[in-house]
Amino acid sequence: MKVVSAEFVSSATEPSKYYKDEALPQVAFAGRSNVGKSSLINRLCGRKKLARTSGTPGRTQLINFFSINNSLLFVDLPGYGYAKVPAEIQRRWRPMVNSYLEDNPALRLLVLIMDIRRGPKEEELSLLAWLAENDIPARVVLTKIDKLKRGQIARERAAAAKNLGVDQEELILFSSVTGQGKEEVWREIRSAAGV
Ligand code: GTP
Ligand code: MG
Repeated sequence: MKVVSAEFVSSATEPSKYYKDEALPQVAFAGRSNVGKSSLINRLCGRKKLARTSGTPGRTQLINFFSINNSLLFVDLPGYGYAKVPAEIQRRWRPMVNSYLEDNPALRLLVLIMDIRRGPKEEELSLLAWLAENDIPARVVLTKIDKLKRGQIARERAAAAKNLGVDQEELILFSSVTGQGKEEVWREIRSAAGV
């Protein structure tokens, strides 16, 4: 998709500040700290610094909203599971994210991003189960594939698919460094959001 405009809209920590009206369809991005959520958003938009990225895990501790082509909202969710993030913030993660996800008629898709080198863990499995129970469509993206050789990518993808109980083809292979997988992620977003 051609991104003509991509703009930061707001950061929020309180439910009253989450956009839930149906004016614009929303696509949310979730995943472990430092997995590459913000980098993926930037790559999709062809912008280097739209969503702030960092070598320090746990930088994004707010829910950030971005308007894409004035027709879609991207929602960068804070990462979970990083030990150095203070316990207090870790405890707040799930309630904060849940209150955004729950009863949100504008949310069309959650993109769950996982590092291809790390298999799904409890957090990913429980989040996916919760999304399924709540009828929220989800799609898993395996990122940082530039870090592995072709054979390893195939092995990791097969193992992740088995763990998640899905077909391998459903797991999108992605790299923010090379841009591989960008069109496939966009296809998924466009079809879910109807844009
Ligand atoms: P938090 O907001 O802290 O949860 O992190 P995040 O998930 O938004 O990750 P971010 O996009 O900030 O990236 C974290 C680090 O991983 C940065 O150093 C990125 O440059 C690097 N990174 C992200 N995606 C890729 C990728 O596809 N390949 C490689 N090699 N590095 C990546
Ligand atoms: Mg981030």
